Amino acid sequence: MSENAKKRLVVLTGAGISAESGFQTFRDSGGLWETYNVEDVASIQGWYRNPKLMTDFYNDMRAQLEKAQPNAGHKILAELEQYFDVQIITQNVDNLHERAGSSHVLHLHGELTKARPVNDSDPSKIIDIGYRKLEYDEKNSDGEILRPHIVWFGEAVPMIEPAARLVRSADIFAVIGSSLVVYPAAGLVHELRGRTLAYLIDPKEVDVPAWLNFRIIQEVASKGVAIMRDELLKEAL
Ligand code: APR
Repeated sequence: MSENAKKRLVVLTGAGISAESGFQTFRDSGGLWETYNVEDVASIQGWYRNPKLMTDFYNDMRAQLEKAQPNAGHKILAELEQYFDVQIITQNVDNLHERAGSSHVLHLHGELTKARPVNDSDPSKIIDIGYRKLEYDEKNSDGEILRPHIVWFGEAVPMIEPAARLVRSADIFAVIGSSLVVYPAAGLVHELRGRTLAYLIDPKEVDVPAWLNFRIIQEVASKGVAIMRDELLKEAL
């Protein structure tokens, strides 16, 4: 099948898709925001107050990522590229979609394996750091202090407009493993064209606009994505 003939499947993922790879979600019971104060480790104010604590927090998460593996949910989405033009929009800062083989991944909230200067958000200044530790007060070759390339609460979300354009262009849409409470990402569902076939995969109930007519699959990602795949392929082939 040529790329042009393929229907576009746009998928918005959240922490839930990486739960089966060993990552805690944020808002479930036992989630990260029960252990950590979100203001301390995920807000720009937290960075001004205690940059060392934040650098360490993301160093730990990056070390965990190095050992983690993509799960069936990530893998099936990558396999679906055989049949669909799959475009992933993720709120996750891990790279498990890429490692599962997905070719088009837009990161709304940044990436753990990257860093950028504190005082310059120009995309050309983002550098790859792989899985290594970022030292607190580390500088780039221009002498600028680096910070994790993560979008924190209180900061703009530069990729939101390209993400909104992708959602508007969807033939099929899916939300997987997101509580849809953090904006502007959660607002992306409002960009959907009214009759687009839309799936919601999550073991818990998530509020979505009733008029959008989501097909709800109340399962964990590995099972739920397999069900969605089977349904889509039955339609498409
Ligand atoms: N499979 C699928 N979904 C799951 C699984 C699983 N195995 N386990 C939990 N979930 C669901 C939860 O039921 C919940 O609806 O994943 C969702 C996780 O929600 P949040 O913890 O709120 O994560 P997310 O929506 O990605 O958070 C958005 O908040 O703090 C920030 O920047 C952070 O990107 C993050 C943003």
